[in-house]
Amino acid sequence: MLDPYALRSDFPMYVNDIKMQGRSLVFLDNASTTFKPYSVEKAVLRYYETETSNSHRGDYDLCYKLDQEVLSTRKKVATFIGCEPEEVVFTSGTTASLNLVAFGYGAKYLKEGDEILLTQAEHASNVLPWFKVAEMTGAKIGYIPLDEEGRLTVANLKKTLSARTKIVAVAHVSNVLAHIAPIKELAAAVHASGALLVVDGAQSVPHIPTDVKDLDCDFLAFSGHKMCGPTGIGVLYGKFDLLKKTDPFMTGGGMNAKFDMCGDVGYLAPPLKFEAGTQNLEGIIGLGAAVDYLRKIGMDEVEKHDEMLKEYCVRKLSETGMADIYNPTSKGAIVAFNIKGVFAQDAATFLNSRGIACRSGNHCAKILIDYLGVLATVRASFYVYNTKEDIDALVDAVAHGKEFLDAYF
Ligand code: ALA
Repeated sequence: MLDPYALRSDFPMYVNDIKMQGRSLVFLDNASTTFKPYSVEKAVLRYYETETSNSHRGDYDLCYKLDQEVLSTRKKVATFIGCEPEEVVFTSGTTASLNLVAFGYGAKYLKEGDEILLTQAEHASNVLPWFKVAEMTGAKIGYIPLDEEGRLTVANLKKTLSARTKIVAVAHVSNVLAHIAPIKELAAAVHASGALLVVDGAQSVPHIPTDVKDLDCDFLAFSGHKMCGPTGIGVLYGKFDLLKKTDPFMTGGGMNAKFDMCGDVGYLAPPLKFEAGTQNLEGIIGLGAAVDYLRKIGMDEVEKHDEMLKEYCVRKLSETGMADIYNPTSKGAIVAFNIKGVFAQDAATFLNSRGIACRSGNHCAKILIDYLGVLATVRASFYVYNTKEDIDALVDAVAHGKEFLDAYF
């Protein structure tokens, strides 16, 4: 079983006993980003200290070794999500990955009258690129209604799908409500209707075992920094045939096979076709170390630990009688709540005074507020190193938050 206390010795942020407001930090903002273990830090440093060179551009040993390491990381990521290495495109993160699909595939194939289906729970990164592509192509945006608990269901998808639907783009786990969408069943319905399924995996790949072949999604986007890896590195998985049909979002060095003065250009095959310019080499190497780290823990263990913390947090917060919880039944490692009678940002500032880091606001899911019926929520989100004591600290603060704020302001 995963032991968060033991794991803390792997993380410099704990070993260095980082303080906030003079108190030991209680970090509950893991849906935003996660701490990095020493092994990731070491891998990044290894690139700087012993391996610095460029990839795919040199005929000397250092470059060759680096090329092998980039390839080996691609294979690690492929194994982690159950695909082929050629189907793993390195990007700067989920946002870049989703933009690549929207502009490289959507803008190329969508036309007037086609439909892109989203949900109200999507993060800006899975809404705004599609808005732009709709504007460029004349396609329309539609929304699959969420059920009364904020879930994306196959029944609601089926009611909304039509012959016009060409792309369905949804989060595997919403970054506010944290319901786990039934991707495999959604994919079957989407494919039966002749459309493609694009999945935002930013909040799922770090937390639950992922097998893209089993899920049968067409594209999956995720980020390294939400799974113990460095910032600025992410992945787009795409079925190889679809990647072949997708245009590069950026062109330049490292992604072309040839070009001449007449403008005749030949691109490399995927995934290199999508990796113009010098890759984020230390990021790629760090991502490889993060994948190794999570695989050593085991993604089943990560999932169980997250679920345990989620259930504990919902129960304890409910017992205070001071919290409105917006997603008590979801399984993902996120609790969205408000302290009764306190605006979310004030609550987060108060939590900060207790050394507790939580995000507040709309969490980039701006169209979800109509569903939630509130402008902003506080979001506590967990990862492998969080403990029940972290949650106890949060619960204690929530229990006394209103009383404290009323007394001082
Ligand atoms: N996408 C990140 C979040 O939900 C930043 O907080």
